[in-house]
Amino acid sequence: PRAHVVLDKQAVIAPVRRRTFGSFVEHLGRCVYTGLYEPEHPTANDDGFRMDVVALVRELGSTTIRYPGGNFVSGFRWEDSVGPRDKRPVRRDLAWHSLESNQVGLDEFTRWLGLTDSELMLAVNLGTRGIQPALDLLEYANHPSGTALSDLRIANGTPEPHNVRMWCLGNEMDGSWQTGFMTADDYGKLAARTAAAMKMADKELELVACGSSNSGMPTFGDWERTVLEHTYDYVDYVSCHAYYQEHDGDLGSFLASATDMDYFIDTVVATADHVGYKKRSNKKINISFDEWNVWYQKEHAESDEVNDEWRHAPRQLEDVYSVADAVVVGNLLMTLLKHSDRVTSASLAQLVNVIAPIMTEPGGPAWRQTTFHPFSITSRLASGEVIRPLIQAPVYDTARHGEASVIDAVATADEDRAAVFLVNRDLHEPAQVTIDVRSLGSTHVTEAVTLTDADVYAKNTFAEQNRVTPAPNTTAQLADGVLSIELPPVSWAAVGLG
Ligand code: AHR
Repeated sequence: PRAHVVLDKQAVIAPVRRRTFGSFVEHLGRCVYTGLYEPEHPTANDDGFRMDVVALVRELGSTTIRYPGGNFVSGFRWEDSVGPRDKRPVRRDLAWHSLESNQVGLDEFTRWLGLTDSELMLAVNLGTRGIQPALDLLEYANHPSGTALSDLRIANGTPEPHNVRMWCLGNEMDGSWQTGFMTADDYGKLAARTAAAMKMADKELELVACGSSNSGMPTFGDWERTVLEHTYDYVDYVSCHAYYQEHDGDLGSFLASATDMDYFIDTVVATADHVGYKKRSNKKINISFDEWNVWYQKEHAESDEVNDEWRHAPRQLEDVYSVADAVVVGNLLMTLLKHSDRVTSASLAQLVNVIAPIMTEPGGPAWRQTTFHPFSITSRLASGEVIRPLIQAPVYDTARHGEASVIDAVATADEDRAAVFLVNRDLHEPAQVTIDVRSLGSTHVTEAVTLTDADVYAKNTFAEQNRVTPAPNTTAQLADGVLSIELPPVSWAAVGLG
């Protein structure tokens, strides 16, 4: 196929939001324990954090980290995880049928965030708990000193407040799997009262109300409307969650997953604006897309270490990602960028071992999954403003998402540099793409990389950790204001321009 893309520097969608490159650490499986925390590991620091993982997280370029759940948070008592470690209780985590030792809690995790230069996005438990424990956590985390809970934090060894700005009001409260799940009406009332109380303590907080667990939920749409009717004046965001996978060998549909995400975002924005307009409010509710990724939910559930045993840090949700999965992840990130006007925060779910770009072995190495690469490169190259591309490309039919463009693209432009991100969804043919970049004023290609492989199911594993890596794309050329590039079939590419 051939495609032509026109980039007009005036066609600005919004600034590139650094929070678009957020991620997610849940107390789930081996994300925390033997993932980012393993005191016996040769690279562990004094806090027990693996410095090999810290180095990879820094390279990944993730920004805001959502913590500590996920489904986990809906049964979590935050007080269990602060103070002297030998006094912290072991609890059952009902969400993942495992044991939680509480050896890592808010104070340790904040020190880990300091190592990775990340911002904390903290979730409160609205499943089994309510307003007072949320307010207590806020006091412990953010109040400087001179109150019972801020002084407790100081006595626990953290003199400075954590100053957490973003807070999630529970997690996926519409899902029957959620501990303490609720109707939209019940959740909306609880979230509104919790948010109002939290803002009495600090009106600068940025609060996220739970949207639907996914767009396939029977209550999708109505849930957002009802929840926002209750919470509109008190919250700043509504959440979106979406996981994609290849179903029944239908790679063409899978590669078009970003078109579904696009539609999902438009629908939630329309719903939020509908409520805002009905309320005659000037305020806009933005989207925190705080769980997104490829996740082979059914397939891998069977190999998870759950059974009837209660284990500490079992191997759960340890998906191993292919080239095709990485192309989809890169494309989903492009879609998030394209919606930077309303999606102002997002979290790749998750960060280490659990549906993650980074894998570890206890006592052994840490390595990059295929999906690590498009995320890391996009986070590094995207800066300035997101530019809406005009794409002229052939379309193809998909069983799951209707008609989809064979080529997708987005660009970012800063004062002295620009970047173009592209995918070719064609299963068999390379694509010849020309991109009119005259208005960007770019004079040369600074780098051009492609993620692809003759085997679209090739993966990085413990045995072969660098089987799939991005390679220079030597076809990229900029002449007379036109960037031309060949994209192999099933590929993701990034071009930096100077
Ligand atoms: O990210 C894994 C799980 O997916 C989270 O705990 C939950 O919020 C979602 O269903």
